[in-house]
Amino acid sequence: MTQTHVSTLISAETIAARVRELGALIAKDYQNRRLVLVSVLKGSFVFTADLARAIDGPLRIEFLGVRSYGEGTSSSGVVQITQDLSKPIEGDDILIVEDIVDTGLTIAHLLELLATRKPASIKVCSLLHKPARTRVEVPIDYLGFTIEDRFVVGYGLDWAERYRNIPFIGVVEAK
Ligand code: IMP
Ligand code: MG
Repeated sequence: MTQTHVSTLISAETIAARVRELGALIAKDYQNRRLVLVSVLKGSFVFTADLARAIDGPLRIEFLGVRSYGEGTSSSGVVQITQDLSKPIEGDDILIVEDIVDTGLTIAHLLELLATRKPASIKVCSLLHKPARTRVEVPIDYLGFTIEDRFVVGYGLDWAERYRNIPFIGVVEAK
């Protein structure tokens, strides 16, 4: 098994430095609030683990299982909830933690869904954003990096369920 045909787009060191900055910003903004990180599975599990540890302050972590892609690399536009939150979020300050905002369809759907549960606030934190593919504009309150229109893997992101364990953001090279 080899994964050497993935070229680096954003190194592990660069990601770590940006995650520390985002964590510090979030900690400052959410002082004395009821912060709940809603980690959108599966893609954001690595980002969530690092981001949570970069936030100095009390918080809760919830997981929301979502499927927006089939095995391919183009959005179906259909968002399916595969695992719901474990608790009500009424009165909580929700920060949705995403790996990447691509078309925006997933986040748009989640913002609508979670708003019906009466949280005190909802914001979005995404590691990556691909503005070239926007189909619906969504607010990204905390953003790691803007990238070009390329399919990326690693740091939680997959290609047909592979490459999630690569510690950096990369591009699969055609072979
Ligand atoms: P959206 O609904 O089109 O914004 O897509 C969001 C989801 O699509 C993300 O949470 C990812 O799981 C997946 N996705 C979009 N672009 C990529 C990519 O370049 N690599 C891996 N997954 C991606
Ligand atoms: Mg995915």
